[in-house]
Amino acid sequence: MAKPKVFVTRIIPDKGLDIVKEFCEANIWPGELPPPRDVLLEGVKGVDGILSLLTSKIDAEVMDIAGPQLKVISNYAVGFDNIDIPAATQRGIPVGNTPGVLTDTTADFAFALLMAAARRVVEGDKYTRAGKWQTWGPKLLLGPDVHGATLGLVGFGRIGKAMAKRASGFDMKVLYYDPIIKDDPDAAALGAQSADLDTVLSQSDFISVHTPLTPDTRHLINATALAKMRPEAIVINTARGPVVDHDALYEALKSGQIAYAALDVTDPEPIPLDSPLLTLDNIIIAPHIASASVATRDKMAEMAAANLLAGLKGEPLPTCVNPELYK
Ligand code: DGY
Repeated sequence: MAKPKVFVTRIIPDKGLDIVKEFCEANIWPGELPPPRDVLLEGVKGVDGILSLLTSKIDAEVMDIAGPQLKVISNYAVGFDNIDIPAATQRGIPVGNTPGVLTDTTADFAFALLMAAARRVVEGDKYTRAGKWQTWGPKLLLGPDVHGATLGLVGFGRIGKAMAKRASGFDMKVLYYDPIIKDDPDAAALGAQSADLDTVLSQSDFISVHTPLTPDTRHLINATALAKMRPEAIVINTARGPVVDHDALYEALKSGQIAYAALDVTDPEPIPLDSPLLTLDNIIIAPHIASASVATRDKMAEMAAANLLAGLKGEPLPTCVNPELYK
């Protein structure tokens, strides 16, 4: 029997790719960079499945060019803002993602950014390499304590909760605001208190963003939100770049309205080299690597392959973002 045809928009770890290659006739885009739009549109023509990365926009045009036989879209990411979900649902196409396996790895990195920003690790490294370290200094690269500080979580899903767990080891007070769930049943066990957004913004030393990108969360952290923060506040974003308004963030960091920011995600990605944010010393910018541990990327690949194969067989996807299709 002929194998189902799939287009894979980038090379993913072998743990998943080997499965895809075994069961499918796979056209795998080999580039380091995402396929250009015309290559993507050509590549999906006539396929039964698409295994996409967050770097490729999978919209109605892609689905229609693929054709009516398209059975599944499997995203190699937990976030799926790169995919037009209503368009997929309308066409009866299930979309899979990779939740759960990257929760702790991403929270580890968000906490690493929090620590690095507070304790000025990146600045310290630059200082040393620049040959500026001449002696121990009582006032050299001072920063706030992390232990005992207040952590404000904007978004209290899996990763937000994993942050709360880490914060308890540092005796931090944890406030959370979630746009959907007001009183989360897990909060008490995690030592987290529900608060409105203004309270979280105005009372936290660290504000860490963990919401998906939706029309409601785009620029949730804007000039108005930043103006509510303390001058000592440190903003961490490992969610999606557009949740934070970069122009407003630049102004807040430059004017001292807030102290520091640490971003793993930017808007756009990659951040343009002429972005004003890159002129500031009080920001750390990482290239969207919060989930980048070997084990996690392997597990994401296995999950993406499992979703793809299930969809090709007409079975429910193990992790589906539009399960209403099955009702
Ligand atoms: C995701 O999965 O959505 C992350 O942003 C990348 O791992």
